[in-house]
Amino acid sequence: MEHKQYDAVVIGAGPGGYACGIRLGQLGLKTLVIERGSVGGVCLNVGCIPSKAIIHAAKTLEKTKHAGAIGVVVESVHLDFQQVQAWKNGIVRKLTGGVSSLLKANKAEVLRGEARLAGSGVVEVVTEAGPVRVEAPHIVIATGSRPIEIPGFSFGGPICSSTEALSLPEVPARLVVIGGGYIGLELGQAYAKMGASVTVVEAGDQLLPGQDPELVGVVAKKLAALGVTVVTQAKAVGWVPAGQGARVEVEVQGRREVFEADKVLVTVGRRPNSEGLGLEALGVALDRGFITVDAQLRTNVPGLYAIGDVAGQPMLAHKASMEAEVVAEVIAGKAAAWDVTAIPAVIFTDPEIATVGLTPAQVAERGLAVRVGKFPFAASGRAMTTGDTDGFVKVLVERDTERLLGIGIVGPQASDLIAEATLALEMGAHVDDVGLTVHAHPTLPEAFMEAVKHAVGAAVHTVNQTPAARP
Ligand code: NAI
Repeated sequence: MEHKQYDAVVIGAGPGGYACGIRLGQLGLKTLVIERGSVGGVCLNVGCIPSKAIIHAAKTLEKTKHAGAIGVVVESVHLDFQQVQAWKNGIVRKLTGGVSSLLKANKAEVLRGEARLAGSGVVEVVTEAGPVRVEAPHIVIATGSRPIEIPGFSFGGPICSSTEALSLPEVPARLVVIGGGYIGLELGQAYAKMGASVTVVEAGDQLLPGQDPELVGVVAKKLAALGVTVVTQAKAVGWVPAGQGARVEVEVQGRREVFEADKVLVTVGRRPNSEGLGLEALGVALDRGFITVDAQLRTNVPGLYAIGDVAGQPMLAHKASMEAEVVAEVIAGKAAAWDVTAIPAVIFTDPEIATVGLTPAQVAERGLAVRVGKFPFAASGRAMTTGDTDGFVKVLVERDTERLLGIGIVGPQASDLIAEATLALEMGAHVDDVGLTVHAHPTLPEAFMEAVKHAVGAAVHTVNQTPAARP
């Protein structure tokens, strides 16, 4: 067996693993990144990036259809789904190629193969050219997560995970989405815009369980306007083939209902890829499948670290990338640790939902006294000029200290707007830090500033609560 020796080995090349490889290379460590699939992982190949391309194509189609309202008359508009796929695939190719170049530029080697821990500091890799034994004093597990399968709904045929749903040969005429969470709503809504008749089956009481219902309500309204059927308190229990498609059996509040589908998208969550890595033999501590790590991303086994989805919630690419940089610096002997106040979360529905910090429910659970500030996009000049006025910014401010505790945005470019809110939380901002910052006009971030001022009765472009919170 071929033997190789490195300073550090990273298993997995998703947004956690590749970022870690790049940073380790920058810090001068002889680094190997092992990947069984494609560099870029789920995010670049079959997740965040291709889904956002499809969502953008669907949005462009919908916008073009309604462009007559702003005086742009398009005689005929149709979808070339093959071209959407080709465009999306081109983006994935460019990005994954870019990541490979960055790894190379930083002298991090990439080995294609399936890795397994074979002892302390030892990794065995099954490659096309045969097995390779790699030794390193530092090993980082960044193996990510995969979609959960529910009993009776194994992926294959008409039953798709998000992976297949991103590469369908055509827009399905009838799509049943099981699970009204992040992925189900992002893709379900995009396919509805592209002409599919979509039904979302959600086990919880509302779509996006756990999210502020006031934010979710705006998206639910848009789904209804698109003709999407939403069935809550509904559990998919089985399916039978019907032609090329499926008849999906659903238990809705104790009743059996059947939904006909050409494709069924199952998006009921993801689970960590922690099996088959040899973790048990090394005695690595796990918690419900997630590898347990400390603030320096160390596992309980010396020299072994874990980052990203496999190391716990939230399973978000930007959390993985941040952990990657921390662990690379820890390995390089720098004084680094995970010390983050706020991790933003974005749901790329229409309108988008973006949140950071505490939700109203969490504030209530903790018994915190807060002021709520709100600003509707219907009152934003910029939102009007782009024709996207649905939604609002909602901020929670601690009553006594007037510090920001949480921000929820549903509306245009919420995904971008959340960056300023995240910086504010990370810096422990007081309302005046935001209120005394000049925001360019006319722009959407003014809505965040106005919502913050509204919390203390000082908004200029919306009516303040009476009595003013801070006269
Ligand atoms: P999710 O956890 O967001 O939603 C799963 C939904 O399925 C929940 O609403 C749950 O109540 C429902 N459910 C569970 N079992 C069910 C059943 N038998 N029948 C009907 N409904 C059922 O999971 P999802 O959408 O698969 O996404 C997984 C993770 O991937 C997310 O939690 C997130 O961390 C990440 N992600 C992030 C994105 C982003 O940042 N924009 C986009 C997509 C995924």
